[in-house]
Amino acid sequence: MSHVVLVGLSGTGKTSVGRRVAARLDRCFVDADEEIEERTGRTVRGIFAEDGEPAFRELETEVMADLLTSTEPVVIAAGGGAIVTEATRKLLGQPEIFVVWLTATPEFLASRTTKKVHRPLLDGDPVAALGKLLSERARWYDEVADVTYDVQPAHRSAPKPEAKENIADVVAAMVHDHENARSRDHVVLIGPMGSGKTTVGRLVAEALGRPLVDSDERLAATTGLTAREIADAHGPTTLHALERHMLRTALTSTRPSVIAAAASTADEPEGRLALVSAHDVVVLWLDPEVAAAREGEGNHRPTVPADEALRRAPLYDSVATARVDVDDRDADTVAKRVLAALEGSA
Ligand code: S3P
Repeated sequence: MSHVVLVGLSGTGKTSVGRRVAARLDRCFVDADEEIEERTGRTVRGIFAEDGEPAFRELETEVMADLLTSTEPVVIAAGGGAIVTEATRKLLGQPEIFVVWLTATPEFLASRTTKKVHRPLLDGDPVAALGKLLSERARWYDEVADVTYDVQPAHRSAPKPEAKENIADVVAAMVHDHENARSRDHVVLIGPMGSGKTTVGRLVAEALGRPLVDSDERLAATTGLTAREIADAHGPTTLHALERHMLRTALTSTRPSVIAAAASTADEPEGRLALVSAHDVVVLWLDPEVAAAREGEGNHRPTVPADEALRRAPLYDSVATARVDVDDRDADTVAKRVLAALEGSA
């Protein structure tokens, strides 16, 4: 188990989401700003006004070092500027510390931060201040983050308290996936639409004596709709969220299976972390040009822009334990190659 740290600009919800994540993981929660105020008996604003920002950063660095080196795993909401300090970035970069960067646009954040008093850096024009802070800090957030999570879609699709619960659900699931990396005894097949995941998956599942969990079939069984119908009626974002949900449900089942995952599950960090929790992830590799030509051929599939296959290729590779060329091979040959690759990784 590792420390979980939420980083990001003011207003991204580090404190409120962090508290909820800690409850889900049954771990303690610490807000770094509150910890500074408690230790010094002063307010963040007071420290900035009387001693200046460098003095505040020193206190912040000390608090972060204490929290990050404690033996009990905690969930920490870091102050928005904690990552400007090199020593803190070094600690955050340790592999056992899981860092989530919560993101949103300066306009969205400004609409949520105006009433708070502990943010002296946002006095005046908060949109301009947040925009400047983001451009100065983005590379540091990026340097320390294991995953990046945009909080705005959740806020667009639900009122505030529910959105925070939903974000906390996703972050807690990402922590579980991270802590279970390569430990879930499933074989996942992924690759562009048209690469034969279902057909090959069925043959591999038979050979291994495991059930096949096919994303499209599960989706149809639970919703009564095909992927194309869901995309047409509710949009691709809803379809992809459902596909990630199908994947996660399959991965957390204790019965070892072969999972034919939807291509979209590699798009978001959230889906990629889930994929990486499987012991084996085999990419069925099809020349991107051929894949693009085949996409959308099946009636049950939504049409996908031709460059989608090209864009996803490196994402598949980033989660793969093996890659099998499909080209024009028949399903039996591809299944044999998959089985050989699994043997190699056992
Ligand atoms: C700061 C963010 C604040 C607080 C201080 C400085 C920053 O924390 O630490 O006002 O430099 O971005 P929140 O991120 O909790 O608002």
